[in-house]
Amino acid sequence: MSEARSGIPLVDIEQLSSVFRTAGREFVVHRDLDLQVHAGELMSIVGGSGSGKTVLLRQMLGLERPRSGRVTVMGRSAAHLGEPGAASRVGMLFQRGALFSAFSVLDNIAFPLRELGTLPDDLVRDAALVKLQMVGLDPSQAHKMPADLSGGMIKRVALARALVMDPPLLLLDEPTAGLDPDSAEAFCRLLRSLHRELGLTVVMVTHDLDTLFELSTRVAVLAEHRVIVSGTPREVMAFDHPFIREFFLGDRGRRAVALLHEPPPAV
Ligand SMILES: Nc1ncnc2c1ncn2[C@@H]1O[C@H](COP(=O)(O)OP(=O)(O)O)[C@@H](O)[C@H]1O
Ligand SMILES: [Mg+2]
Repeated sequence: MSEARSGIPLVDIEQLSSVFRTAGREFVVHRDLDLQVHAGELMSIVGGSGSGKTVLLRQMLGLERPRSGRVTVMGRSAAHLGEPGAASRVGMLFQRGALFSAFSVLDNIAFPLRELGTLPDDLVRDAALVKLQMVGLDPSQAHKMPADLSGGMIKRVALARALVMDPPLLLLDEPTAGLDPDSAEAFCRLLRSLHRELGLTVVMVTHDLDTLFELSTRVAVLAEHRVIVSGTPREVMAFDHPFIREFFLGDRGRRAVALLHEPPPAV
């Protein structure tokens, strides 16, 4: 998508500053943070615990307002994403991607469409069934309840729900955290094929180096309250910074780096 890269970014964050006030004290999360995500990219965001990765995704969704700076998503201020129907533009898989425990799999997936209230119920059900299969689950799972699902299946159902309105942009907060290695790898393969086949733009927060190397077209590193570097995994690893040395070249990093193959082809 080289032509798209020269156009306006799908996500454009400029001079972002995020400050929380707790117990009367100000706590800076982001300062002068800039980040652009172009159409077709699969961008991974990495950073230490508490560095503001989840807050950044929530700002892209319009769920949280920055102290100052601009968060523009598909040409509009993210503040508008809180409006009805916004789920058609951005899908989100939350870190603790809770399903509604009293709803079946199918009703969970259908929820955003039902909430919109514009489609007849049989169409809503059909759309939800299509998404169920798109995430690799059999229609026979449609009537199960969340309590009866494995961790990997819960993630898939939450992903189907995030995609039910065909958003061009998908945000994922630590999608493979808490999964066993086989489920994490299978989920990773699913994300890669959805990214390719649906032409999705994906922004993913992850600590999982296998997932990061396997999927990312670009990586952004959050440290010192801002994005200190963004680029291909190789470019980012070559950037000299204590967080990057620890993250990529600490013990857990070495194995993934040893397996590092060529970056995924441009989409
Ligand atoms: N609503 C809030 N009020 C006060 N502090 C918050 C709020 N949301 C997040 N924080 C703080 O902001 C920092 C960044 O949080 P977060 O984005 O969740 O970190 P992470 O990078 O681990 O996802 C943390 O110190 C967190 O405690
Ligand atoms: Mg987080």
